[in-house]
Amino acid sequence: MARNPVQILSRYNEIFGDTFWIRIGGLKEAMVTIDPAVIQHVLKTNAENYQKSEIQVKRMGHFLGKGLLTTHGEAWRTQRRLIQTGFDRKQLDALSSIMQDSLAESLRDFDSQIRRGPVDIYPQLMKITFAMVARSLFGARLKDEDIDLVSHTICTVQEFIVRQTLQPYLNPWFAVSGELRRHEDMRTRADAILLEYIRKRRNEPPGHDLLQTLMDARYNDGEGMSDELILSESMQLLVAGHETSSNALSWLFYLLSSRPDCLERVRREFDSVLGDAPMTYSDVPKFEFATQVIQEALRLYPPFWMVDRMAVADDRVGDVAIPRGSMVIVYVYGAHHAPRYWQNPENFDTERFTKANEKLRTPFTYLPFGAGPRGCIGGNYAMLQILMILSDLLRKYDFQLSPGQMIEARPMVILRPKHGIRMTFSNTTTSAPCVA
Ligand code: HEM
Repeated sequence: MARNPVQILSRYNEIFGDTFWIRIGGLKEAMVTIDPAVIQHVLKTNAENYQKSEIQVKRMGHFLGKGLLTTHGEAWRTQRRLIQTGFDRKQLDALSSIMQDSLAESLRDFDSQIRRGPVDIYPQLMKITFAMVARSLFGARLKDEDIDLVSHTICTVQEFIVRQTLQPYLNPWFAVSGELRRHEDMRTRADAILLEYIRKRRNEPPGHDLLQTLMDARYNDGEGMSDELILSESMQLLVAGHETSSNALSWLFYLLSSRPDCLERVRREFDSVLGDAPMTYSDVPKFEFATQVIQEALRLYPPFWMVDRMAVADDRVGDVAIPRGSMVIVYVYGAHHAPRYWQNPENFDTERFTKANEKLRTPFTYLPFGAGPRGCIGGNYAMLQILMILSDLLRKYDFQLSPGQMIEARPMVILRPKHGIRMTFSNTTTSAPCVA
């Protein structure tokens, strides 16, 4: 189970059906479900009764403070309402040019890497997406070395949180050995850097970035957020947004490498919609086929392969009783791969997401961005980001999967490629020049 939860949980789905109970680590009782009615109830209809799990609230809260990922109830609702405006259509249109500039800058580095030989695309794409999210938050002037430090801090601290969670018996040792302190110090250093950007901005002309949205937001009493709260919300957006799009993109490149037909169709669509113009958020609905391809990749490899909650009070959905305190695992990967909801679920088939076919789908069986009030706040941003990166890379480069490697998914917090994905890139000769 610890080594390959996806394999085990999917097997249990076959044996026990859509909903079953397991004991995690031999101790905690958890209900695992891919039943759309139960998922709808837990994530949406009775969402109030299902809080974020202890891992998120306690362990992540220790390092990340209070923010969207780590709070519940009224405090969360108020913050969500304020931060949501940073991801509305107008704001995403304004962010497009920061994102495009960040991409152009990252591609210079990417270009020099791929000229040296095959690259593992996962860390490359992570670097590109992290810089984009960081600059969308703190503005185009965010320095490369600060981006690198914050990115390194987030990765290291996140790995430490996973170790704390998977090996809780080591926590006293982490405290005595100085491991805990070392990670806290890293976080303090990253905080200090970002806090300086926030304080400086108070005395600068307004920007078009998310930091400005956070600074301009007002509570009902007319007060704004403190610098410290802006810092922890920003850090949480960076954590939530840093590894998800890069994962989706890595799997996309992998899938497209064996589907030249789809690849050419996506390239043609980018060329015909954009020509030489840069992409903005208003363009997104025009990429019908590229969106289908992304949706299918997110079905096969959902970055959040599961979403967990904790029942606050006793509850019941149909004939399923959920006692107070039980953990509920919405098994997203299982729902996306269940033969009863998808025909030939292991096949890469973009037709599933045509407008006509979408109407036929059972609701709450496709959940890459979660569902209900705590669904992803950055979903539209992520689609724009993925399309932008895809458009520039596909139109600039041809690429091939390096032979002889084992491609496997590793379900940690995020469904990562376990051994990376090595690819060779060369400049394309057939397509229109890309804008970056
Ligand atoms: C392909 C990319 C992405 C995927 C697949 C994804 C997926 C998800 C999912 C499944 C959730 C719900 C988790 C739960 O219910 O426990 C979530 C929440 C969240 N996501 Fe994303 N996400 C992506 C990109 C982003 C980006 C780019 C940002 C920000 C820049 C972001 C910010 C957040 C935040 C703040 C939450 C918590 C919302 C709340 O609790 O109110 N995500 N995401």
